[in-house]
Amino acid sequence: MLNVSGKTAFITGGASGMGWGMAKAFGEAGMRVIIADIRQDALDQAMEGFAKTNLAVHAIKLDVADRDGWARAADEAEAQFGNIHVLALNAGVGVTGSMLTATYKDWDFNMSVNVGGVVNGLVTMLPRMLKHGEEGQIVVTSSTGGFSAVGNAGLYCAAKFCVAGMFESLATDLRGTALGASVFFPGPVQTQLGSTTNATRPEHLRNDAPPPAPEAVGAKKDARPAPGFDPNLFMSSEEVGERVLRGIRRRDLFIMTHPEFQRGIEARSNALVRAIPVEAPNEVRANLVAQFGTLMYNPIYDEQQPLDEPL
Ligand code: NAI
Repeated sequence: MLNVSGKTAFITGGASGMGWGMAKAFGEAGMRVIIADIRQDALDQAMEGFAKTNLAVHAIKLDVADRDGWARAADEAEAQFGNIHVLALNAGVGVTGSMLTATYKDWDFNMSVNVGGVVNGLVTMLPRMLKHGEEGQIVVTSSTGGFSAVGNAGLYCAAKFCVAGMFESLATDLRGTALGASVFFPGPVQTQLGSTTNATRPEHLRNDAPPPAPEAVGAKKDARPAPGFDPNLFMSSEEVGERVLRGIRRRDLFIMTHPEFQRGIEARSNALVRAIPVEAPNEVRANLVAQFGTLMYNPIYDEQQPLDEPL
């Protein structure tokens, strides 16, 4: 278990939604918290709220795609609260739409924030966190679309699968250090993702015209009615914050929001198992396993402990 009290957290996308929920939960657990976000107005609004509490929160304006900005933010965070122990790489944008008609600008915006922002955070913060040697945890916000493909959101899935794999590898590399890594998979959560995605998209990565419908390039029109959804059914950001806090304390590899994920997870995992070639065991295969180590079997997956009680 990680004792979080008195430790410092740095949360990207911390001004609203899940990042804000994490800031609140972490602060209430006795942590000092940096909220970093690209939107100054949202940071100001969040800080107005935190000023009415006794939580130790400090805001830093940061575009996670800006590498120089990361170095400055890390310096400012350490000057404010000292060593960083928990890093939540949560900032993201919801670039949806079909891959059949996506443009380079769509891909570049999606990858620069959802993947590049995570890479930049790691390259800046990881050496600092390893160097101080104190216990901590690094968590990335993936998505349901990070373990099971979602139609009409291939760019988003590409990014969210990417960061999940990145952090599963990271958890493997961090064995034997004071740090651990977690992948957080949220389902539907009440946040501002749609509007913040539009508001934060840089001018040079905006399309000149909306991309054509997939049918215009030969795709079959989906005959099913578009699913309506009721945001009131979505999870609150406060609850998300508590779930992430629990996962960090437990140093879980995987943190999830919804038990309803189970069928989708099993469907994909079972499809992979069914695709395994049927071959007789032989010496070559035994040597492969011995030589390739975690390529064939990574023990980190067996270390995930079940959650046997509700939050
Ligand atoms: P949100 O829009 O309320 O919060 C995201 C925050 O990230 C915003 O405050 C935004 O200003 C900030 N941000 C965006 N681009 C940034 C950049 N370049 N640099 C720094 N900050 C930036 O939305 P939400 O939902 O809380 O998003 C958090 C994470 O959760 C994202 O990674 C998103 O992809 C992921 N997610 C959201 C789901 C949902 O149902 N809302 C479901 C699954 C994943």
